Amino acid sequence: MIFVTGGAGFIGANFVLDWLAHSDEPVVNLDKLTYAGNLQNLATLQGDARHIFVQGDIADTALVERLLVEHQPRAVINFAAESHVDRSIHGPDDFIQTNVVGTFKLLEAVRHYWQALPAIKKEAFRLLHVSTDEVYGTLAADAPAFTEDHVYEPNSPYSASKAASDHLVRAWHHTYGLPVLTTNCSNNYGPYHFPEKLIPLMIVNALAGKPLPVYGDGMQIRDWLYVKDHCSAIRRVLDAGHLGQTYNIGGWNEKPNIDIVHTVCRLLDELRPRADGQSYAVQITHVKDRPGHDRRYAIDARKIERELGWRPVETFDTGIRKTVQWYLENADWVANVQTGAYRDWVQAQYAEQAGA
Ligand code: NAD
Ligand code: DAU
Repeated sequence: MIFVTGGAGFIGANFVLDWLAHSDEPVVNLDKLTYAGNLQNLATLQGDARHIFVQGDIADTALVERLLVEHQPRAVINFAAESHVDRSIHGPDDFIQTNVVGTFKLLEAVRHYWQALPAIKKEAFRLLHVSTDEVYGTLAADAPAFTEDHVYEPNSPYSASKAASDHLVRAWHHTYGLPVLTTNCSNNYGPYHFPEKLIPLMIVNALAGKPLPVYGDGMQIRDWLYVKDHCSAIRRVLDAGHLGQTYNIGGWNEKPNIDIVHTVCRLLDELRPRADGQSYAVQITHVKDRPGHDRRYAIDARKIERELGWRPVETFDTGIRKTVQWYLENADWVANVQTGAYRDWVQAQYAEQAGA
């Protein structure tokens, strides 16, 4: 049994699906179902006894402790977080509550559970904390990519809250001996990505004939990783990562935002041409920049390759094509997210399990 938090979100849901595609080891999935949590992402697991969903908050110590004792997981993987940088700028409270206080509460619940385990189970237990490259701050154009030794210089409320969570995880290892692993990943993309983030937003806006808002000059660089590659990296770190270590995960795909938007437009021009024959690129609009916008992120993913033998499978070309195709084939999912109808669907489909 493994215990996943935030498993109804973008990466968490991909992870749960990926896990159960590779293993019959059951998953307890604790998710608060914020605006970003969507059980429709896990619709293919309905009726699958290997997936036990519980709606709840990682900051609810009594609930987490009860679930841990009841299900006796050998590992906890923490995806639960507020994840969107723009939202953190407009309203940081939830970010501090879930990413900092929530991680602290989770650590305490896990520590109490772990300390009471018999020796063999205690030895084997792992807490894997999923974090971000944004904790390292911004990189100059000619600076080497982030290694695991890079100084923490978070610049947004989101990245500061994630940096705080990483420090808490580190301290719980150092002080209490909790067997932790931390992963710091670059920008993910792929199926079930909430359409507030760059790539899915550009796809859905393009198809709806809306403007494609590029912040500032669009020359900010992000390093893109197909979400299923992130999932395989997490499985690998869980299996073989060295206790207390951090691993940077990236796809070796540094690209300026404007190039990403043009690539999405080109793929849509090919796969779903506009009725007027023009390119979707005519919808690109440069808008005011994000406050404090980090200019460049880049992950040096050599440690995880050297020590654990992990490399991404997808190139950006293969991953982005799959992603655009997925959004074209899943218009219902997009519509449900945009109208908020996915919440009704959850109520109807999971009424008995939610809050179990
Ligand atoms: P997401 O916003 O899509 O999903 C977050 C999930 O956590 C949602 O299902 C939400 O309901 C749940 N959640 C939020 N607060 C909770 C709480 N208090 N208790 C329980 N569940 C709660 O985020 P994502 O993009 O899937 O990111 C998952 C993790 O990976 C986050 O920790 C994020 O910081 C990290 N990360 C994301 C990226 C990326 O590109 N998306 C890259 C690197 C790291
Ligand atoms: O680097 C990892 C991080 O990647 C994760 O930790 C975060 O959870 C995840 O949200 C993501 O953060 P970003 O801020 O990089 O992602 P976002 O998709 O919001 O933006 C990607 C880039 O595109 C960024 O430079 C801002 C820009 N952008 C974004 C949006 C939504 C635009 O130019 N226009 C937009 O409309």
